[in-house]
Amino acid sequence: MRRFYIACPMRLLPFLFLLPAPLAAQSAPAAVPLPAGVTAEMLVKGKELFQGAGLCMACHGVDGKGSVGPDLTDTTWLHHKGSYEEIVAQVIKGVPEEESKTGTPMPPRGGSALSDEQVRAVAAYVWSLSRRPPPT
Ligand code: HEC
Repeated sequence: MRRFYIACPMRLLPFLFLLPAPLAAQSAPAAVPLPAGVTAEMLVKGKELFQGAGLCMACHGVDGKGSVGPDLTDTTWLHHKGSYEEIVAQVIKGVPEEESKTGTPMPPRGGSALSDEQVRAVAAYVWSLSRRPPPT
């Protein structure tokens, strides 16, 4: 009798929370951690600049999926490995015609008047496009 009492599965119910989280929750893709020096606020600001004063959307599309300029939401990088610092440097420099892979150059800072700080925000947003859910 006593043995049945202990083995009865219902008795174990209150301890279910001790089990590891369900597999489904564990296999959901975790957002990649932000690079050093990047904050969630910069992603929001960067999106605003990308679609506004930075002029980026004129060539890369409102969602960064590309038109005149390449798709920035995929994991293919034409000029480097797509690290945050590489993107910052690329946006500041642009893509001179002789380095262009598509035959179309990109002016420094996209031809905009963005400050270095604003470029760092817009680059953070570009970095995030292929790695994290879009900022809201
Ligand atoms: C006048 C059009 C134009 C504007 C405006 C523009 N870009 Fe570009 N961008 C391009 C083109 C064209 C390329 C690809 C050049 C090549 O063929 O290598 C490019 C390339 C890039 C790349 C490198 C992509 C890779 O795969 O390596 C990044 C990053 C980028 N742009 C970000 C930006 C950001 C951020 C802005 C806004 C500040 C911006 N661009 C504004 C045309 C533009």
